[in-house]
Amino acid sequence: MLLFTQPAELKQYFRQLPPTATIGFVPTMGALHEGHLTLVRLAKQQCTVVICSIFVNPTQFNNPEDLAKYPRTIEADSQMLESVGCDVLFLPEVTTMYPTPVRTTLDFGDLEKVLEGKFRAGHFNGVGLVVSKLFHLVKPDVAFFGQKDLQQCLIIKQLVRDYSFDLKLVIVPTMRETDGLAMSSRNRRLTKAQRQLAPQLYKALQTAQTELQNGQAVQTVQENFTTYLHQWAAFRVEYFEVANTLDLQSVMHCTHGQEIALVTAVFLGEIRLIDNLVFTF
Ligand code: PAF
Repeated sequence: MLLFTQPAELKQYFRQLPPTATIGFVPTMGALHEGHLTLVRLAKQQCTVVICSIFVNPTQFNNPEDLAKYPRTIEADSQMLESVGCDVLFLPEVTTMYPTPVRTTLDFGDLEKVLEGKFRAGHFNGVGLVVSKLFHLVKPDVAFFGQKDLQQCLIIKQLVRDYSFDLKLVIVPTMRETDGLAMSSRNRRLTKAQRQLAPQLYKALQTAQTELQNGQAVQTVQENFTTYLHQWAAFRVEYFEVANTLDLQSVMHCTHGQEIALVTAVFLGEIRLIDNLVFTF
């Protein structure tokens, strides 16, 4: 696996690829887990070369402590990427990605006003900026993202449409541990006791799906979700919404055949976990 830190190195690499080569791209913030490796494996199947980026993007963190504590495990990450045949690891510095303070702001309209966008001011502006920069540098034919960050996937779809990025997006279903916990870089910050509790989040989502499909009102399902998780003092539900999958606006009544997303963010101790469940009503 080649390791580049500079855009010029990427450019040089592209020059020697055959014109028919296709580039698969997996952008990450590191602290890789099996979910990321699944994206790389898929990229390997679909493209000639696979480029993975690791960049802990400061502009998408609204909480400086969260940025400081974000796990950084470059050694282990590189080994994992090697093991699944990643061709290039792009590892830029903050000063390379942001040589001067960014002045541009992106506006994703209603999509950024709900859920994560509502609780993390400026988050999607930062995601949009860095993903645009990475798309310009890597010029992928196919870019792979995990559905765990459902709202991020919709934001990037909008970015690709609005800015006419010439690439295909592949959204890959959430990878889960055997006990149901969605794989996430943040999971490694859970204490042993918190890790044991964490699968209750997925359980609560599954229960909410069953309740909705049994005809319970959305508001009741929301109350039940929170009551269930709050039986453990360590959980604090930040939001739990029943939304449509097109624009993630809240749905008060599900209609037959509608694609529904149950979307949530909870604190488990001081660790913020997000998860979602998508199904057809
Ligand atoms: O999902 C992530 O890891 C990040 O938000 C991304 C897409 C790499 C942008 O920094």
